[in-house]
Amino acid sequence: MLDFSQVINRRGTDSYKWDGSDRELGNTQCLQMGCADMDFETAPELVDALRQVVEHKVYGYATLSPEFARGVVSWYGTRHHVKLQPEWVLHSPRIVISASVVVRALSQAGDKVILHTPYYPPLDCATQSQGRVAVEPPLVLKDGRFVIDFEQLERLVDDSTKLMIFVSPHNPTTRVWTRSELEQLADFCVRHHLYLFVDEIHCDFTAPGQNFISMLEIASPIQERLIVVNSAAKSFNIMGCAISYLIIPNDELRAQIENAFVQAGEEDTNIFGNALMKVAYQKCGYYVDAVNEVINANDAYVRQELPTIFPKAKIIPREGSYLLWIDLRDEFANEQEMQDFLINKAHIFWLEGSHFGPHFEGYARVNIGCPKATLEEMMRRLRAARA
Ligand SMILES: Cc1ncc(COP(=O)(O)O)c(C=O)c1O
Repeated sequence: MLDFSQVINRRGTDSYKWDGSDRELGNTQCLQMGCADMDFETAPELVDALRQVVEHKVYGYATLSPEFARGVVSWYGTRHHVKLQPEWVLHSPRIVISASVVVRALSQAGDKVILHTPYYPPLDCATQSQGRVAVEPPLVLKDGRFVIDFEQLERLVDDSTKLMIFVSPHNPTTRVWTRSELEQLADFCVRHHLYLFVDEIHCDFTAPGQNFISMLEIASPIQERLIVVNSAAKSFNIMGCAISYLIIPNDELRAQIENAFVQAGEEDTNIFGNALMKVAYQKCGYYVDAVNEVINANDAYVRQELPTIFPKAKIIPREGSYLLWIDLRDEFANEQEMQDFLINKAHIFWLEGSHFGPHFEGYARVNIGCPKATLEEMMRRLRAARA
C-alpha cells in the first residue's frame, strides 16, 4: 500500500536535501524544501529489487541488463506515445554527467552553448567549467507564463554557436512546452546547425490538462542532431541510485557520444540502478500516477493558503514537475530580505531565484513533493513568522 501522508524523517541519512542543506545553514531548524527530491518512499517493487541485490551480498561491477533499454522503449511508448528503437538508448550515471560529456564531444573551448535562464545550475556548469561561452537568454513572462523569446535567440546565435541545452518540462518555471513551441525550437536549431540536448527528466509529472510532448516526437530534421536525456530518478524518487539514460536516434551521433563516454571512463553501470531500471518502467507506472495525484492536491492547497500569508506573491501556474516557482518580489525589498525572513524567522528553506542564474532574483522555488502535513507545517511557520 502506498502511503504518501507519512512524514519520514530523512535527517541523519546523509540526504543531500536535508543533511546537506542543514550543514550549509549550520543548524537543523529549517524545513528543507529546496533540492528537487521528494520525501516519499519509492514503490515497493523497487524496494524488493534493491533487497534482492543487497541480499545477494556480492556487489561486483555490473553490466547493463537488456531490460534497461526495453524499459525505456516501453515507457516512452506507453506513456509518451513515442516509438523508440532499443539501440538508440545509452546509459549514464547522471544527466549532469551526460551534459558534461556531450558539451565536450560536440563543441570546443570558445564555442557558444545556449541555455535559457532560469536554469538548473549543473547544466550551466557543464558549459562554463569546460571553457565554453554560455549564452543565456532569459525566458520571458507573457500572459502569466514563461515563453521562449525567439527574436532574442536569432540575435544571439552566430557561427560559433554549436549546441543548445533545453529542459522540457522546464525546471524551475515548470513549463510544459507546446508542440508549436517545440517545432519552432527544432526549426531554429536546424537553421543554425545546432545540436540540441533536451533534458526530459521532469516529464512524468504534469498538472491536470497538461500534455508532455517529447522532442523525439517532433517530425523535423532535428532528429539527426538530437540528444534526449532522461532518468527514472525523479519519477520514482530514486535519485541517490545514479542511473540515467540518453536517447540518440542518429547512428553516427550516437557512436560519437558513446565513444566520448568511453573516453571519460564511463562504461559500466551501477548494480543498484541497473536493478531498479529492470522493474521501474515495466511494473511501476501506477506509482507515478499516484504521486501525480498527491502533487496536484498539494499544488491546490498551496495556491489556496499561501496568498493568505503573502497576498502579493505570484505563484506561476504549475504545468509540470513537483515544483512551484513563485515571484515574491512584491513581498520583500530584495532577495536577501526574503531569505532572511524564510530561513531565520520562518525556518524554511526554499531555493532563491538567483540560484537559477541571472534575472530572477526575488523568485523562489518550492518543492511540494512532500506529505501534506509538511506543507501545513510550512504554512504554520510562515504565518507565525509574519505575525
Ligand atoms: C532539469 C534537471 N536535470 C537533471 C537533474 C539531475 O539529474 P541527474 O541526477 O541524473 O544528474 C535535475 C535534478 O534536479 C534537474 O532538475
